[in-house]
Amino acid sequence: MKECKKCPLYKLAKNPVPGGGDINCQIMFIGEGPGEKEDELGQPFVGKAGKMLDEMLESIDLKRDQVYIANVVKHRPPGNRDPKPEEVQACWPYLQKQIEIIKPKLIVCLGRHSLGRFLPSVGSISVVHGRCFVKKNQAYMALYHPAVALYNGSMRKTLFEDFKKIKIALCKIEEKNKT
Ligand code: URA
Repeated sequence: MKECKKCPLYKLAKNPVPGGGDINCQIMFIGEGPGEKEDELGQPFVGKAGKMLDEMLESIDLKRDQVYIANVVKHRPPGNRDPKPEEVQACWPYLQKQIEIIKPKLIVCLGRHSLGRFLPSVGSISVVHGRCFVKKNQAYMALYHPAVALYNGSMRKTLFEDFKKIKIALCKIEEKNKT
């Protein structure tokens, strides 16, 4: 990943942002792509949206070192534009490998780009946020991207409410695995 030149994003990026956290975790959070701060530091979700994510994790008694956080693209799209489908496609094998290694019980898709990559046919995030899906034996949850909560109070409330469903979903997955 560090030397990846499979798409042009590396040309303007300062650092790759592969992801970070506990590789033995149960929950993997997958966002869109690094922003300015992430690009500078080589770490995922360390800017304003990252602070919001930390707050939301804390609200369900989780710390970022207990989960794994990654993105669908590992280099910053210039000016924080949306990643292009061919960039997401080029980066996809890295994310697949990360999932294969971590084997999370639950993948939380943060925002429409992440959701669209994993579950392209479930519908719009505005309709399916807070819901859990199972595809090929892998559980997913659709959540709004934490950045939407930065400037919108009602979205913030919705996100906090949806976050509570993560723990419920995990308990259900564990119960199911026991039977
Ligand atoms: N937004 C994302 O989707 N990912 C990051 O790492 C930071 C902001």
